[in-house]
Amino acid sequence: MAFATRQFVRAASSDAATAAAKKLLIKHVTIIGGGLMGAGIAQVAAASGHTVVLVDQSDEILKKSTKGIEESLKRVIKKKFADKPEAGAEFIKKTLKNLTTSTDAASVVHSTDLVIEAIVENLEVKNKLFQTLDKFAPEHTIFASNTSSLQITKMANATTRQDRFGGLHFFNPVPMMKLVEVIKTPMTSQKTFESLVDFSKAVGKSPVSCKDTPGFIVNRLLVPYMMEAVRLFERGDASKEDIDVAMKLGAGYPMGPFELLDYVGLDTSKYIIDGWHSLEPNNPLFAPSPLLNKLV
Ligand code: NAI
Repeated sequence: MAFATRQFVRAASSDAATAAAKKLLIKHVTIIGGGLMGAGIAQVAAASGHTVVLVDQSDEILKKSTKGIEESLKRVIKKKFADKPEAGAEFIKKTLKNLTTSTDAASVVHSTDLVIEAIVENLEVKNKLFQTLDKFAPEHTIFASNTSSLQITKMANATTRQDRFGGLHFFNPVPMMKLVEVIKTPMTSQKTFESLVDFSKAVGKSPVSCKDTPGFIVNRLLVPYMMEAVRLFERGDASKEDIDVAMKLGAGYPMGPFELLDYVGLDTSKYIIDGWHSLEPNNPLFAPSPLLNKLV
């Protein structure tokens, strides 16, 4: 019995070693979209020693993204290097040295290990981008989307690298928020998944894993919760102020659901719920709200 257990342990650990040996060590990252999320992801990737190219549609946008990253890094060093200003200045210098920008995605992906897409939340536009990059990126390159509400599987199917495609869902503001949801579609290979988990850890985040289901973990729980708060108010059961106070003092949440709705944006929330409603029209959790629609 002991022998069998030892054999099993040995086999399992050698399997793990083989899987680990096959994983891709991500050194060069291309981030498409230099907005709120893309700039944040570029910052944490460059700060953790990766070579990063940030891509957007114009030099003006990229200038703004870089300026935002510099300001954010200054805030980081105020905390991280409070009593070592020289080390802080060195950290900023090193981070910015790891970061370049481009307006031509196709020309910069030829030697990249990972492409992270953080452009506008529109499936057609994302698919078109991935289709193009699929032709220019090397065989080994992994593609990932930062989408909040679209299906990763649909994007993977726009390419020929379904096994090297997954989701990397960061949270806003990226430099502050520790979580990354690593999304595995039915076609994502174990090697790709493990490489994405390792990358998330390398940029200082805590990864969790989820299948390609609407909203993944966080938004799947959060969005219906916010919508239910709106319905509670719509029915006239409680005021929005009291609902916020109740969830802060009664559930210990840092923000009430209406404060959170304002932070996320009413338009974004409506867009997400409408998308899910079209996928699952009979799911009461995804029912649109007349009040939210009117406000948007
Ligand atoms: P954003 O509007 O701040 O930035 C998007 C950027 O993409 C813009 O700078 C735009 O010029 C650029 N862009 C658009 N099409 C492009 C193309 N074809 N090629 C290159 N660049 C292009 O948007 P944000 O908030 O950063 O969101 C980006 C993605 O991240 C979306 O998919 C969104 O669902 C997701 N996300 C957003 C979160 C948030 O709190 N804002 C949180 C987590 C995920």
